[in-house]
Amino acid sequence: MVISDLPDNYYTGKRTFVRIDFNVPNIEVDPDPPRIRRAIPTIDYLTSRKAKVILASHLGRPDRRPDPKFSLKPLAVRLAEILRTNVRFVDDCIGDKVKEAIGSMGNGDVLLLENLRFHKGEEACDEKFSSELASLAEIYVNDAFGTSHRAHASTYGMARHFEYRLAGFLVRGELEHLARIREAPDRPFLVIVGGVKIKDKLSALKRLIDKADKVLVGGCVAYTFLVSKGLSVGDSLVEQESISWAAEVLSKHGNKIILPEDHIVSTNADDIKGIHLVSGGIPKFLKGFDIGRDTSKRYAKEIASGNRTILWNGPMGLFEKEQFSHGTVDVARSVALAYLRGCTTIIGGGDSIAALKMADVSEREVTHISTGGSASLEYIGGKELPGIEILTERSILEPAATEP
Ligand code: 3PG
Repeated sequence: MVISDLPDNYYTGKRTFVRIDFNVPNIEVDPDPPRIRRAIPTIDYLTSRKAKVILASHLGRPDRRPDPKFSLKPLAVRLAEILRTNVRFVDDCIGDKVKEAIGSMGNGDVLLLENLRFHKGEEACDEKFSSELASLAEIYVNDAFGTSHRAHASTYGMARHFEYRLAGFLVRGELEHLARIREAPDRPFLVIVGGVKIKDKLSALKRLIDKADKVLVGGCVAYTFLVSKGLSVGDSLVEQESISWAAEVLSKHGNKIILPEDHIVSTNADDIKGIHLVSGGIPKFLKGFDIGRDTSKRYAKEIASGNRTILWNGPMGLFEKEQFSHGTVDVARSVALAYLRGCTTIIGGGDSIAALKMADVSEREVTHISTGGSASLEYIGGKELPGIEILTERSILEPAATEP
Protein backbone atom coordinates (compact mmCIF):
# COMPACT_ATOMS: atom_id res chain seq x y z
CA MET A 1 0.00 0.00 0.00
CA VAL A 2 1.03 3.55 -0.69
CA ILE A 3 0.18 6.48 1.60
CA SER A 4 -2.50 7.66 -0.83
CA ASP A 5 -4.38 4.34 -0.42
CA LEU A 6 -5.68 5.28 3.03
CA PRO A 7 -8.65 7.66 3.28
CA ASP A 8 -7.58 11.31 3.61
CA ASN A 9 -9.16 11.76 7.01
CA TYR A 10 -7.45 8.67 8.38
CA TYR A 11 -4.28 10.62 9.08
CA THR A 12 -5.78 13.41 11.15
CA GLY A 13 -3.87 13.62 14.41
CA LYS A 14 -2.11 10.27 13.83
CA ARG A 15 1.53 9.87 14.78
CA THR A 16 3.08 8.82 11.49
CA PHE A 17 6.65 7.54 11.47
CA VAL A 18 8.35 8.15 8.13
CA ARG A 19 11.70 6.43 7.52
CA ILE A 20 13.47 8.73 5.09
CA ASP A 21 17.00 8.53 3.68
CA PHE A 22 18.66 11.80 4.59
CA ASN A 23 22.11 10.28 4.24
CA VAL A 24 23.39 13.52 2.77
CA PRO A 25 26.85 14.19 4.16
CA ASN A 26 27.54 17.48 2.38
CA ILE A 27 24.44 19.56 2.95
CA GLU A 28 26.56 22.74 3.21
CA VAL A 29 28.05 22.10 -0.24
CA ASP A 30 24.92 20.76 -1.91
CA PRO A 31 21.82 22.17 -0.17
CA ASP A 32 19.31 20.67 -2.63
CA PRO A 33 20.16 17.01 -3.07
CA PRO A 34 17.57 14.68 -4.66
CA ARG A 35 17.30 12.72 -1.41
CA ILE A 36 15.76 15.75 0.28
CA ARG A 37 13.78 17.10 -2.67
CA ARG A 38 12.18 13.74 -3.40
CA ALA A 39 11.09 13.31 0.22
CA ILE A 40 8.98 16.48 0.06
CA PRO A 41 5.86 15.11 -1.70
CA THR A 42 5.35 12.50 1.03
CA ILE A 43 5.92 15.00 3.83
CA ASP A 44 3.58 17.52 2.17
CA TYR A 45 0.92 14.87 1.60
CA LEU A 46 0.94 13.79 5.24
CA THR A 47 1.09 17.28 6.77
CA SER A 48 -1.74 18.49 4.56
CA ARG A 49 -3.81 15.57 5.90
CA LYS A 50 -2.96 16.69 9.41
CA ALA A 51 -0.74 13.78 10.39
CA LYS A 52 1.91 14.31 13.06
CA VAL A 53 4.92 13.57 10.91
CA ILE A 54 7.89 11.97 12.70
CA LEU A 55 10.89 11.74 10.35
CA ALA A 56 13.84 9.45 11.01
CA SER A 57 17.01 8.67 9.09
CA HIS A 58 20.60 7.58 9.40
CA LEU A 59 23.52 9.73 8.31
CA GLY A 60 26.88 8.16 7.49
CA ARG A 61 28.35 5.30 9.43
CA PRO A 62 28.95 6.54 13.00
CA ASP A 63 30.39 4.18 15.55
CA ARG A 64 26.96 3.28 16.98
CA ARG A 65 27.07 6.13 19.50
CA PRO A 66 26.33 9.86 19.36
CA ASP A 67 28.86 11.79 17.31
CA PRO A 68 28.21 15.46 16.41
CA LYS A 69 29.87 14.93 13.01
CA PHE A 70 26.94 12.74 12.03
CA SER A 71 24.12 14.78 13.56
CA LEU A 72 20.98 15.32 11.48
CA LYS A 73 20.42 18.75 13.02
CA PRO A 74 21.64 20.70 9.94
CA LEU A 75 19.20 18.67 7.84
CA ALA A 76 16.32 19.85 10.06
CA VAL A 77 17.35 23.45 9.39
CA ARG A 78 17.51 22.85 5.63
CA LEU A 79 14.22 20.96 5.60
CA ALA A 80 12.50 23.82 7.44
CA GLU A 81 13.76 26.25 4.77
CA ILE A 82 12.42 24.03 1.99
CA LEU A 83 9.06 23.35 3.65
CA ARG A 84 8.81 26.95 4.86
CA THR A 85 7.52 25.70 8.13
CA ASN A 86 8.90 24.90 11.53
CA VAL A 87 10.71 21.55 11.73
CA ARG A 88 11.44 20.55 15.27
CA PHE A 89 14.57 18.54 15.97
CA VAL A 90 15.10 16.24 18.93
CA ASP A 91 18.59 15.01 19.73
CA ASP A 92 17.71 11.33 20.12
CA CYS A 93 15.41 8.89 18.37
CA ILE A 94 13.99 6.94 21.33
CA GLY A 95 13.29 7.62 24.99
CA ASP A 96 11.37 10.07 27.15
CA LYS A 97 12.70 13.19 25.46
CA VAL A 98 11.43 11.95 22.13
CA LYS A 99 8.06 10.91 23.54
CA GLU A 100 7.66 14.33 25.14
CA ALA A 101 8.48 16.07 21.87
CA ILE A 102 5.95 13.90 20.04
CA GLY A 103 3.37 14.46 22.76
CA SER A 104 3.54 18.20 22.20
CA MET A 105 3.15 17.98 18.39
CA GLY A 106 0.11 19.55 16.80
CA ASN A 107 -1.67 18.10 13.78
CA GLY A 108 0.37 18.72 10.63
CA ASP A 109 3.62 19.30 12.57
CA VAL A 110 6.98 17.88 11.48
CA LEU A 111 9.64 16.50 13.81
CA LEU A 112 13.04 15.15 12.77
CA LEU A 113 14.71 12.63 15.08
CA GLU A 114 18.47 12.34 15.59
CA ASN A 115 20.57 9.82 13.63
CA LEU A 116 19.20 6.30 14.14
CA ARG A 117 22.71 4.85 13.93
CA PHE A 118 23.68 6.51 17.20
CA HIS A 119 22.12 3.37 18.74
CA LYS A 120 23.64 -0.02 18.12
CA GLY A 121 20.16 -1.56 17.95
CA GLU A 122 19.52 0.08 14.58
CA GLU A 123 21.94 -1.87 12.41
CA ALA A 124 21.60 -4.99 14.57
CA CYS A 125 17.83 -4.82 14.02
CA ASP A 126 17.53 -5.37 17.75
CA GLU A 127 14.00 -6.25 18.84
CA LYS A 128 13.97 -3.98 21.90
CA PHE A 129 15.14 -1.00 19.86
CA SER A 130 12.64 -1.84 17.10
CA SER A 131 9.77 -1.94 19.63
CA GLU A 132 10.88 1.36 21.14
CA LEU A 133 10.83 3.00 17.72
CA ALA A 134 7.48 1.40 16.93
CA SER A 135 5.98 2.68 20.18
CA LEU A 136 6.41 6.25 18.89
CA ALA A 137 3.78 5.99 16.16
CA GLU A 138 0.52 4.57 14.88
CA ILE A 139 1.36 4.45 11.18
CA TYR A 140 4.63 3.39 9.55
CA VAL A 141 5.82 4.75 6.21
CA ASN A 142 8.99 3.76 4.35
CA ASP A 143 10.19 6.47 2.01
CA ALA A 144 13.87 5.55 2.29
CA PHE A 145 14.46 3.63 -0.92
CA GLY A 146 18.23 4.12 -0.60
CA THR A 147 18.29 2.16 2.67
CA SER A 148 15.69 -0.47 1.82
CA HIS A 149 18.37 -3.08 1.09
CA ARG A 150 19.26 -3.01 4.80
CA ALA A 151 17.23 -5.11 7.27
CA HIS A 152 17.72 -2.60 10.06
CA ALA A 153 15.40 -1.73 12.96
CA SER A 154 13.93 1.32 11.23
CA THR A 155 13.61 -0.24 7.78
CA TYR A 156 12.49 -3.69 8.85
CA GLY A 157 12.31 -4.56 12.57
CA MET A 158 9.91 -1.83 13.66
CA ALA A 159 7.70 -2.16 10.59
CA ARG A 160 6.56 -5.58 11.76
CA HIS A 161 4.71 -3.94 14.65
CA PHE A 162 2.30 -1.97 12.47
CA GLU A 163 -0.96 -2.88 10.92
CA TYR A 164 -0.40 -0.22 8.27
CA ARG A 165 3.04 -0.14 6.71
CA LEU A 166 2.98 2.05 3.71
CA ALA A 167 5.30 3.09 0.93
CA GLY A 168 5.87 6.81 0.46
CA PHE A 169 5.85 8.48 -2.95
CA LEU A 170 9.64 8.40 -3.30
CA VAL A 171 9.67 4.63 -2.84
CA ARG A 172 6.75 4.19 -5.22
CA GLY A 173 8.48 6.31 -7.88
CA GLU A 174 11.75 4.39 -7.58
CA LEU A 175 10.03 1.02 -7.88
CA GLU A 176 8.07 2.17 -10.93
CA HIS A 177 11.19 3.44 -12.69
CA LEU A 178 13.42 0.53 -11.84
CA ALA A 179 10.93 -2.33 -12.26
CA ARG A 180 11.15 -2.38 -16.05
CA ILE A 181 14.91 -2.64 -16.02
CA ARG A 182 14.73 -5.29 -13.34
CA GLU A 183 12.28 -7.35 -15.44
CA ALA A 184 13.59 -6.93 -18.95
CA PRO A 185 16.16 -4.25 -19.75
CA ASP A 186 16.39 -3.23 -23.38
CA ARG A 187 19.63 -4.68 -24.71
CA PRO A 188 22.50 -4.17 -24.95
CA PHE A 189 22.50 -3.46 -21.22
CA LEU A 190 25.68 -1.81 -19.92
CA VAL A 191 26.45 -1.54 -16.20
CA ILE A 192 29.09 0.88 -14.93
CA VAL A 193 30.11 0.36 -11.35
CA GLY A 194 32.60 2.12 -9.11
CA GLY A 195 32.87 3.84 -5.74
CA VAL A 196 34.27 2.89 -2.36
CA LYS A 197 31.53 0.71 -0.90
CA ILE A 198 33.32 -2.28 -2.39
CA LYS A 199 31.57 -5.00 -0.42
CA ASP A 200 28.08 -3.71 -1.27
CA LYS A 201 28.87 -3.19 -4.93
CA LEU A 202 30.47 -6.60 -5.36
CA SER A 203 27.59 -8.30 -3.65
CA ALA A 204 25.11 -6.52 -5.95
CA LEU A 205 27.24 -7.39 -8.98
CA LYS A 206 26.87 -11.07 -8.15
CA ARG A 207 23.29 -10.87 -9.35
CA LEU A 208 23.63 -8.17 -11.97
CA ILE A 209 26.40 -9.86 -13.86
CA ASP A 210 24.03 -12.39 -15.41
CA LYS A 211 21.68 -9.65 -16.63
CA ALA A 212 24.30 -7.26 -18.00
CA ASP A 213 25.83 -7.53 -21.44
CA LYS A 214 28.90 -5.63 -20.34
CA VAL A 215 30.25 -4.20 -17.08
CA LEU A 216 32.73 -1.33 -16.88
CA VAL A 217 34.47 -1.28 -13.53
CA GLY A 218 36.16 1.69 -11.87
CA GLY A 219 36.85 3.16 -8.44
CA CYS A 220 37.90 0.88 -5.61
CA VAL A 221 35.73 -1.94 -6.95
CA ALA A 222 38.21 -2.33 -9.81
CA TYR A 223 41.21 -3.00 -7.54
CA THR A 224 39.65 -6.14 -6.07
CA PHE A 225 39.18 -7.50 -9.60
CA LEU A 226 42.72 -6.53 -10.59
CA VAL A 227 44.21 -8.27 -7.54
CA SER A 228 42.23 -11.39 -8.38
CA LYS A 229 43.96 -11.38 -11.78
CA GLY A 230 47.30 -11.33 -10.02
CA LEU A 231 48.06 -7.67 -10.77
CA SER A 232 49.68 -5.42 -8.20
CA VAL A 233 47.47 -2.57 -6.94
CA GLY A 234 49.98 -1.08 -4.46
CA ASP A 235 48.18 0.32 -1.41
CA SER A 236 44.83 0.78 -3.16
CA LEU A 237 41.68 -0.28 -1.31
CA VAL A 238 40.75 -3.92 -1.86
CA GLU A 239 38.00 -6.14 -0.44
CA GLN A 240 40.09 -9.16 0.62
CA GLU A 241 37.09 -11.43 1.24
CA SER A 242 35.86 -11.01 -2.32
CA ILE A 243 39.08 -11.72 -4.19
CA SER A 244 38.34 -15.39 -4.84
CA TRP A 245 34.78 -14.56 -5.92
CA ALA A 246 36.15 -11.89 -8.29
CA ALA A 247 38.55 -14.46 -9.79
CA GLU A 248 35.66 -16.87 -10.30
CA VAL A 249 33.53 -14.19 -11.94
CA LEU A 250 36.36 -13.24 -14.26
CA SER A 251 36.86 -16.82 -15.33
CA LYS A 252 33.13 -17.22 -16.00
CA HIS A 253 32.23 -13.78 -17.35
CA GLY A 254 35.64 -12.41 -18.33
CA ASN A 255 34.33 -11.37 -21.75
CA LYS A 256 31.73 -9.08 -20.12
CA ILE A 257 33.91 -7.35 -17.55
CA ILE A 258 36.16 -4.49 -18.56
CA LEU A 259 38.77 -3.33 -16.07
CA PRO A 260 40.98 -0.24 -16.05
CA GLU A 261 44.24 -0.57 -17.95
CA ASP A 262 45.85 2.55 -16.56
CA HIS A 263 45.48 4.56 -13.38
CA ILE A 264 46.09 7.94 -11.85
CA VAL A 265 48.09 7.21 -8.69
CA SER A 266 49.79 8.97 -5.80
CA THR A 267 51.09 8.13 -2.34
CA ASN A 268 48.01 9.71 -0.75
CA ALA A 269 45.10 11.90 -1.79
CA ASP A 270 46.86 15.12 -0.73
CA ASP A 271 50.19 14.41 -2.41
CA ILE A 272 49.58 16.48 -5.54
CA LYS A 273 53.23 16.50 -6.61
CA GLY A 274 53.34 12.71 -6.43
CA ILE A 275 50.47 12.22 -8.93
CA HIS A 276 51.29 10.27 -12.05
CA LEU A 277 49.84 7.92 -14.60
CA VAL A 278 50.75 4.22 -14.58
CA SER A 279 49.78 1.42 -16.96
CA GLY A 280 49.09 -2.17 -15.95
CA GLY A 281 49.70 -2.74 -12.23
CA ILE A 282 50.10 -0.10 -9.53
CA PRO A 283 53.57 -0.09 -7.91
CA LYS A 284 54.12 -0.63 -4.18
CA PHE A 285 53.35 2.27 -1.80
CA LEU A 286 51.12 3.97 -4.37
CA LYS A 287 47.33 4.14 -4.44
CA GLY A 288 44.97 4.39 -7.37
CA PHE A 289 42.73 7.48 -7.22
CA ASP A 290 41.23 7.57 -10.72
CA ILE A 291 41.13 5.62 -13.97
CA GLY A 292 43.80 6.67 -16.48
CA ARG A 293 43.38 8.40 -19.85
CA ASP A 294 43.39 5.25 -21.99
CA THR A 295 40.79 3.66 -19.74
CA SER A 296 38.67 6.81 -19.94
CA LYS A 297 38.80 6.72 -23.74
CA ARG A 298 37.98 3.02 -23.81
CA TYR A 299 35.02 3.50 -21.44
CA ALA A 300 33.71 6.46 -23.47
CA LYS A 301 33.80 4.25 -26.56
CA GLU A 302 31.95 1.42 -24.83
CA ILE A 303 29.30 3.83 -23.50
CA ALA A 304 28.76 5.23 -27.01
CA SER A 305 28.55 1.83 -28.69
CA GLY A 306 24.79 1.55 -29.19
CA ASN A 307 23.66 0.45 -25.72
CA ARG A 308 19.89 0.61 -25.13
CA THR A 309 20.13 0.66 -21.31
CA ILE A 310 22.91 2.01 -19.09
CA LEU A 311 23.00 1.72 -15.31
CA TRP A 312 25.74 3.78 -13.67
CA ASN A 313 26.50 3.52 -10.00
CA GLY A 314 29.61 4.82 -8.27
CA PRO A 315 32.40 7.18 -9.35
CA MET A 316 35.57 6.09 -11.14
CA GLY A 317 37.84 7.69 -8.54
CA LEU A 318 38.14 10.24 -5.77
CA PHE A 319 36.21 12.73 -7.88
CA GLU A 320 35.67 15.20 -5.03
CA LYS A 321 39.28 16.26 -5.64
CA GLU A 322 39.64 18.00 -8.99
CA GLN A 323 42.90 16.21 -9.79
CA PHE A 324 41.15 12.82 -9.55
CA SER A 325 37.82 13.77 -11.11
CA HIS A 326 38.53 13.35 -14.84
CA GLY A 327 37.53 9.69 -15.21
CA THR A 328 34.22 10.25 -13.41
CA VAL A 329 33.43 13.47 -15.27
CA ASP A 330 34.15 11.74 -18.61
CA VAL A 331 31.79 8.90 -17.71
CA ALA A 332 29.07 11.39 -16.66
CA ARG A 333 29.31 13.24 -19.99
CA SER A 334 29.41 10.06 -22.04
CA VAL A 335 26.33 8.70 -20.26
CA ALA A 336 24.50 12.02 -20.89
CA LEU A 337 25.37 11.78 -24.57
CA ALA A 338 24.09 8.20 -24.72
CA TYR A 339 20.78 9.43 -23.25
CA LEU A 340 20.51 12.17 -25.86
CA ARG A 341 20.98 9.48 -28.51
CA GLY A 342 18.01 7.51 -27.16
CA CYS A 343 19.50 5.19 -24.54
CA THR A 344 17.67 4.66 -21.24
CA THR A 345 20.05 5.78 -18.48
CA ILE A 346 19.71 5.21 -14.75
CA ILE A 347 22.16 6.88 -12.43
CA GLY A 348 22.17 5.93 -8.78
CA GLY A 349 24.00 6.74 -5.59
CA GLY A 350 24.84 10.03 -3.94
CA ASP A 351 28.35 10.23 -5.42
CA SER A 352 27.31 9.61 -9.02
CA ILE A 353 24.59 12.24 -8.64
CA ALA A 354 27.13 14.72 -7.27
CA ALA A 355 29.41 13.84 -10.18
CA LEU A 356 26.66 14.81 -12.65
CA LYS A 357 26.68 18.30 -11.18
CA MET A 358 30.44 18.50 -11.41
CA ALA A 359 30.28 17.46 -15.07
CA ASP A 360 27.56 20.06 -15.80
CA VAL A 361 25.13 17.34 -16.75
CA SER A 362 21.57 18.36 -15.98
CA GLU A 363 18.90 16.09 -14.55
CA ARG A 364 17.09 16.42 -17.88
CA GLU A 365 19.94 14.56 -19.55
CA VAL A 366 19.26 11.36 -17.61
CA THR A 367 16.24 9.03 -17.79
CA HIS A 368 16.09 8.48 -14.03
CA ILE A 369 18.22 9.55 -11.12
CA SER A 370 17.82 6.99 -8.38
CA THR A 371 18.23 8.02 -4.75
CA GLY A 372 19.51 4.49 -4.11
CA GLY A 373 23.12 3.47 -4.60
CA SER A 374 23.56 -0.17 -3.65
CA ALA A 375 19.78 -0.42 -3.15
CA SER A 376 19.12 0.27 -6.84
CA LEU A 377 21.86 -2.16 -7.94
CA GLU A 378 20.48 -4.88 -5.69
CA TYR A 379 16.91 -4.24 -6.80
CA ILE A 380 17.68 -4.23 -10.51
CA GLY A 381 19.80 -7.35 -9.97
CA GLY A 382 16.60 -9.09 -8.80
CA LYS A 383 17.01 -9.11 -5.02
CA GLU A 384 13.96 -8.59 -2.83
CA LEU A 385 14.81 -5.62 -0.60
CA PRO A 386 13.89 -6.26 3.07
CA GLY A 387 12.55 -2.71 3.54
CA ILE A 388 10.18 -3.19 0.59
CA GLU A 389 9.29 -6.81 1.28
CA ILE A 390 8.13 -5.99 4.79
CA LEU A 391 5.59 -3.52 3.41
CA THR A 392 3.81 -6.33 1.63
CA GLU A 393 3.87 -8.92 4.44
CA ARG A 394 1.06 -9.33 6.92
CA SER A 395 1.70 -7.95 10.40
CA ILE A 396 3.28 -10.73 12.49
CA LEU A 397 3.44 -8.88 15.77
CA GLU A 398 0.89 -7.10 17.87
CA PRO A 399 0.77 -3.38 17.05
CA ALA A 400 3.05 -1.75 19.65
CA ALA A 401 1.78 1.81 19.49
CA THR A 402 1.19 3.41 22.86
CA GLU A 403 0.38 7.02 23.57
CA PRO A 404 3.66 8.91 24.01
C1 3PG B 1 23.35 4.94 0.81
O1 3PG B 1 23.89 6.05 0.84
O2 3PG B 1 23.62 4.10 -0.07
C2 3PG B 1 22.27 4.64 1.80
O3 3PG B 1 21.91 5.74 2.56
C3 3PG B 1 22.68 3.48 2.69
O4 3PG B 1 23.82 3.83 3.43
P1 3PG B 1 24.75 2.68 4.03
O5 3PG B 1 25.48 2.06 2.87
O6 3PG B 1 25.68 3.37 4.99
O7 3PG B 1 23.88 1.67 4.70
